[in-house]
Amino acid sequence: MRRPLIAGNWKMHTTYEQALELASAIQARCGMVKYAEVVLVPPFPWIVPLSRHLDGSSILLGAQTCSAFDEGAYTGEVSAKMVAPFCRYVIVGHSERRRLFGETDAVVAAKLRAVLRNGLRPILCVGETFEERESGATRETVERQITVACNDLEREQVARLVIAYEPVWAIGTGRPATPVDAELVASWIRAWFRERFGPEISEGLRILYGGSVTASNVVDFLALADIDGALVGGASLDAREFCSIVEAGVGRAHRLAVGG
Ligand code: 13P
Repeated sequence: MRRPLIAGNWKMHTTYEQALELASAIQARCGMVKYAEVVLVPPFPWIVPLSRHLDGSSILLGAQTCSAFDEGAYTGEVSAKMVAPFCRYVIVGHSERRRLFGETDAVVAAKLRAVLRNGLRPILCVGETFEERESGATRETVERQITVACNDLEREQVARLVIAYEPVWAIGTGRPATPVDAELVASWIRAWFRERFGPEISEGLRILYGGSVTASNVVDFLALADIDGALVGGASLDAREFCSIVEAGVGRAHRLAVGG
């Protein structure tokens, strides 16, 4: 059974005080959740203090990106090696990194390897732009992003990978993909992994949906066969909203456990 994963990408939001307050509120309500994995992905400076703050809870931390290198003369960069003692996950290939910071598929692939090399788990974001969708290139785009990042991985590395399907046009727009579309793309992603790595790996792979997820629409995504969780942006900055999303993840875990 694939354990549901709910991750909150805080992006470049929160002051230090707001970060502590948000983490405390989430911890108070969701700090002991067992059946779903809960991951907070704050800005870099809050990772170390939050790791102390959340010590003893089941909430995990992630980083929003990392360098492709482990150390050296790379001014301004933060390596996976540096965050490894405090994090379990690192997001790579978020569309904001691709679009605003020029990260190519090749750069994303190098970052993914840095995450794996340092014993962390990558959450690889893939997804088509509005234009790609309109021109019928969704499958081709997502498969290209996955092929460049994952084709040469070892099976043991794929076992640590999470894919987040985030259609670019759905991010921060209040206009999520329809569950039918999300399931279709997730099934293409799983088929790609089955073809390349076989059924055991593809059946174990967790695929998240991201893009305008809220407490009210997440239930529809978590009812789908191939969607194992959510990568939440805006709604993860509201503790009550985020905890309701986590509880929907726990609900999915219970349903799977009883074979529903
Ligand atoms: P929103 O949930 O704000 O649309 O952001 C999604 C996202 O980019 C998560 O990584």
